[in-house]
Amino acid sequence: MLKIKSLKKSYIQGSHTVEIFEDLNFQVKEAKRVAIMGKSGSGKSTLLSLISGIIKPNSGDIVLNNISYKDMNESQINDFRATNIGFVFQNFHLVSYLNALENVMLPAKVCGIENPKEKAIELLKSVGLEHRIDHLPSQLSGGEKQRVAIARALIHNPKIILADEPSGNLDEETGIAVMDKLFELIKKNNTTLVLVTHSKDVAARCEETYKLVSGNLTRC
Ligand SMILES: Nc1ncnc2c1ncn2[C@@H]1O[C@H](COP(=O)(O)OP(=O)(O)O)[C@@H](O)[C@H]1O
Ligand SMILES: [Mg+2]
Repeated sequence: MLKIKSLKKSYIQGSHTVEIFEDLNFQVKEAKRVAIMGKSGSGKSTLLSLISGIIKPNSGDIVLNNISYKDMNESQINDFRATNIGFVFQNFHLVSYLNALENVMLPAKVCGIENPKEKAIELLKSVGLEHRIDHLPSQLSGGEKQRVAIARALIHNPKIILADEPSGNLDEETGIAVMDKLFELIKKNNTTLVLVTHSKDVAARCEETYKLVSGNLTRC
């Protein structure tokens, strides 16, 4: 479903070149839930950005759903991402001037999905936020914001969800409740998940856990 082939990525930092991946090979099968752990600065967020096509590798390729990123130009990658990938971030990344419903509807509008409002309300209900539909992000708690973000990540039925420390900014109890929702919806929709986390408990909910060390992913 997801194949990472001989991926090389480095950053230029001033006069230095920082190698993040020299030759990364990795695969995630369809509907699998995979956790990625690793020290801060090891390249976990870089890996998710590469999988989403937001940043380009120096060399190598990523194939998602049989489509090679090498074969797409920038606008094709942007369309592909909007259609096939859902995101959940540590800092929620909600649009501050849109209410919960409008935030959830955003990706659907980009993809031209029919009846996005109905679907968004249904998703907000399924994450227990039917009473918060017209609230702005500033009127929501951290856990509520992340549940809006989860609904938003799923509205366009993406093939894969990329989650970057989704419970990292939440207290333990709220984090568990939010992860319960994420996993419940992902299992229901057979969505593939690549989840970056520092929490062993969150990782344990996935079928496979890998540790990113020195640019390589090793199964734990
Ligand atoms: N745009 C960038 N330019 C230069 N260096 C970067 C950039 N993004 C990340 N880095 C560096 O790459 C390394 C990996 O970063 P990151 O992928 O964010 O790690 P993690 O998510 O595992 O904490 C860090 O040393 C970081 O400083
Ligand atoms: Mg990170």
